[in-house]
Amino acid sequence: MPTNLIILGARGSATSVIEAVLRTNDLRGERYRLVGILDDLPENRGSATLGVPVLGAIDQAAQYSDCMFVNAIFSIASFRKVPEVIKRTGVPIERFVTIVDPTAVVSRAARIGRGCCIMACAYVAANTTVGDHVLVSPHVAVNHDASLGSCIGIASGVHINGHARVDDNVLIGGGAMIAPHVTIGASAVVGMGAVVLGDVPSGQVYAGNPARHVVKSPYNLIS
Ligand SMILES: CC(C)(COP(=O)(O)OP(=O)(O)OC[C@H]1O[C@@H](n2cnc3c(N)ncnc32)[C@H](O)[C@@H]1OP(=O)(O)O)[C@@H](O)C(=O)NCCC(=O)NCCS
Repeated sequence: MPTNLIILGARGSATSVIEAVLRTNDLRGERYRLVGILDDLPENRGSATLGVPVLGAIDQAAQYSDCMFVNAIFSIASFRKVPEVIKRTGVPIERFVTIVDPTAVVSRAARIGRGCCIMACAYVAANTTVGDHVLVSPHVAVNHDASLGSCIGIASGVHINGHARVDDNVLIGGGAMIAPHVTIGASAVVGMGAVVLGDVPSGQVYAGNPARHVVKSPYNLIS
């Protein structure tokens, strides 16, 4: 019996999550039945993503008692809302599944939580830990002994090097490099292409090479 699956969030990363699900079904038999998407944006009502319909708003999650869920909310405008959105579903963590694209490589010695998606061609090395509701985009490398918290979005092509630590609810922009042993504090943002050589304080936006505080960014929680 396939698992009924609902995706949270209709745009951007939802396409990669859907494709990971479809590839899993192609390779391993029908593991998942894509029931639909829940999304709060009024402009997404009545639409579909790769043929998967937007059924309604996040608050309606409890109606789908025979479904499992996965997070696909990621954008710079929305990622900080993920913990609140997950809470608002009222769905216990046991009803979130982690999807691993069949083209991704995940070490047997990696520990990954629930509600995550490890997307196409990503690599998650041995002795890494990944929390819940984490999106690991295509061609990301999470290297040995790295530790990731929960509700994190990692955009395509990011390299998180050995022993680095990424705390809860961080967004790392496309192609960024995180040096070994560095810590990215909770709710921080790392800009596209950044080379992060030292710790990034919580709630701040860092970008550039070497990465520095983007003082004027509206995404700073703390100036
Ligand atoms: C870092 C980021 C959040 C900054 O956004 P912002 O606050 O709107 O920044 P602005 O575009 O107003 O730029 C502010 C300053 O930072 C600089 N800057 C912005 N992004 C930068 C980057 N990635 N690298 C280097 N400098 C950057 C700008 O040149 C500007 O400098 P100035 O003040 O000297 O003119 C954004 O550029 C970014 O990288 N977002 C991540 C996107 C992404 O990968 N998303 C993936 C999920 S969909």
